[in-house]
Formats: sequence, structure tokens, C-alpha cells
Amino acid sequence: MSTSADTLADMNRPALSIFAQSLLSGQSAVITGGGSGIGEGIAKALAAHGAKVGLIGRTPEKLARVASEIVKKNGHAIYRAVDVREYTDLERAITAMAIELGGVNILINSAAGNFLAPAASLSANGFRSVIDIDLCGTFNACRASFAHLSKRGGSIVSITATQASVPTPLQCHAGAAKAGIEKLTRDLALEWGGMGIRVNAVAPGPIDNTEGMTRLAPGGVEIALKKRVPIGRYGTIEEVSAAVLYLVSAAGTYITGSTLLIDGGTSLLGPGPFLDMMRGEL
Ligand code: NAP
Ligand code: COA
Repeated sequence: MSTSADTLADMNRPALSIFAQSLLSGQSAVITGGGSGIGEGIAKALAAHGAKVGLIGRTPEKLARVASEIVKKNGHAIYRAVDVREYTDLERAITAMAIELGGVNILINSAAGNFLAPAASLSANGFRSVIDIDLCGTFNACRASFAHLSKRGGSIVSITATQASVPTPLQCHAGAAKAGIEKLTRDLALEWGGMGIRVNAVAPGPIDNTEGMTRLAPGGVEIALKKRVPIGRYGTIEEVSAAVLYLVSAAGTYITGSTLLIDGGTSLLGPGPFLDMMRGEL
């Protein structure tokens, strides 16, 4: 028998099924980083709600698995193995996808790289690699999609992180990259609003069962960190996907230049839990 606490917890876990299945029918989306984790979840959510999807990442096997899982559920998915740092390759891939998908009116930027590293020993190339993938890769995908998004109007959502605004130890590279993406989001929203393109970001906090959290909160500290989140748990990939669906759908047509926090209140605590984690005091 469920208790009232269980019921409240359930109410805190919205299902994607709250959206109409036809929410995005007739639409086409490109998702960078669509071969795993949050990008995979978003690609599957967009496809389950009627969009044709094109997946981008570096590893063809990962992309092929996600595409075939979408197709098995009667969705439409294609993929191209490309590094988002390589503009010419990326533009060629997005143009080819636009032809195959009948246009592109949604772009999701989820490709990223991250690791824990103290600034004092992080190499210049390590810092640059993360800036190149996250920030330059996001610009590259936006720029390469512009011609398609501006044809019939469109929407971009980039996945940032709370490190963009909360100073976080061992994360200067990722924080700088994600802060850059949030600023780019506002700049593009201003320049491209008149062309019918909305540009937004979502900033997840810690999300369960992801490569990101495996890297940032390795086994052991996870349980203690979860307890610090004001909502009392990590978020789910489904919850991030639901926010993206809302932003790209007709429910979000007056929203542009914004970053939506999806962090269960984690950023309200500032760097505290992460400083404790770094000092081994979590
Ligand atoms: P993930 O599964 O590792 O997703 C990142 C994806 O990006 C991978 O599929 C990776 O595939 C792809 N990628 C990496 N470098 C690339 C490149 N140069 N070119 C093209 N694709 C590239 O990790 P995740 O945890 O789900 O993270 C997804 C997004 O959410 C990231 O933007 C991350 O910063 C953000 N985020 C995650 C969390 C969290 O709790 N996990 C919290 C806040 C924000 P390949 O290696 O095959 O290319
Ligand atoms: N700590 C410190 N520096 C690191 C590091 C770590 N854990 N991992 C990589 N680096 C440094 C490397 O030493 C190298 O610098 P150097 O040439 O001065 O030695 C630089 O980063 C580039 O490493 P490389 O492995 O060549 O980069 P890549 O472009 O192949 O991969 C990464 C990019 C490093 C971000 C890699 O972790 C990756 O591909 N990640 C994708 C998945 C991911 O991070 N998911 C989580 C998303 S939140």
C-alpha cells in the first residue's frame, strides 16, 4: 500500500506521457551527443512524440544502437558519426540529415566532455579540449543548422550545467564552457529571434545513471551527495527530456534566451556539497 509520502514522491516524478504523443509530429530534430545519456534520452523523447531525429556523436556503434532502438518503437532515426569540433564535417552531416529528414527545425546540443581536474594541474590542452567540445561545438552546431532552422522557424536547446553559475571546485574548464554556452544562448536569441529561431538552454543538476555523474561523483560519495539535494534525490534523464519537450513545443513559443534550471534545488546550496566532496567530508 502506498503511503502519502510515496504519493508525494510520485507526484515529483512527472512522466513523459503527460505530453500528447503527436506533440512534435511533422518536425525534425538534430541531437548532438545523441548516442548516450541525456542526449539519448532527449532523442528518444522527441522521437516518441512524433519528431524525426538525426543523431550526432563520434562513436558510430553508440549512435547505431540508439537509432535502432528508436526505429524498433516505430520512430524515425538516422545518424552520422562526426566530431562537433570539426565544423566542415559537422555542416556536411547536418545538411545531409536535413535532406533525409525533410528539414531541421529543432537542434539539441548535448555533446560534451568533462572530468574532475584541479586548475593548478590541468593542462592547457585539457582546458581547451572541454571548451572546444562544449562551447565551440555548440556554436558549430548552431551555425551549421542556421540555414535549416531559419527556413520555417525553429528552436535550439543547449544542455549546460549548474557549474555555469555556481563556482565549483575541479570544474573550471566545464564551468567556463557552460557559462559561455549560456551567454551564447542569449546572444543568438537576440540575433535570431526575428528570423523565427528561439534559443534556450537547460541546466541540469546531478542526473542519475549518466556518464557525467559517474565521472563527477564516483561511487561512495553518491549517496551522501543525493541527500544534500533539496529535493532529496538525483534527477532523471526523463525529467531533463520533459523540460526540453516543453521548450521546443508550442507551449514554449514566447520563451527565448532563457536557461531553465533542472537541478532539484542543488544550485541553491552553492558550492558547499562539492567543496565537502573535494575535502573528503561529504
Ligand atoms: P554522456 O553520456 O557522456 O554524453 C555526452 C555525449 O557527447 C556522448 O554521447 C559523446 O559520444 C558525445 N560527445 C562527446 N564529445 C563529442 C564530440 N567531440 N563530438 C561529438 N559528440 C561528442 O554524458 P551525460 O552525462 O549524459 O551528459 C550529456 C550532457 O548533459 C552534457 O552536455 C553534460 O555536460 C550535461 N550535463 C550532465 C549532467 C549529469 O548529471 N550527467 C549534469 C549537468 C549537465 P562520443 O564520445 O561517442 O562522441
Ligand atoms: N584529468 C586531467 N586532464 C585530462 C583528463 C583528466 N581526467 N582527461 C583528459 N585530460 C586532458 C588530456 O591529458 C589532454 O591534455 P594533454 O594533451 O595536455 O595531456 C587533453 O585533456 C585532451 O585529452 P584527449 O583524451 O586527447 O581528448 P579527447 O578530445 O579525445 O577527449 C575528453 C575529450 C578528455 C573530454 C574525454 O573525456 C571525452 O571524450 N569525454 C566525452 C564523454 C564525457 O566526458 N561525458 C561526460 C559529459 S558531462
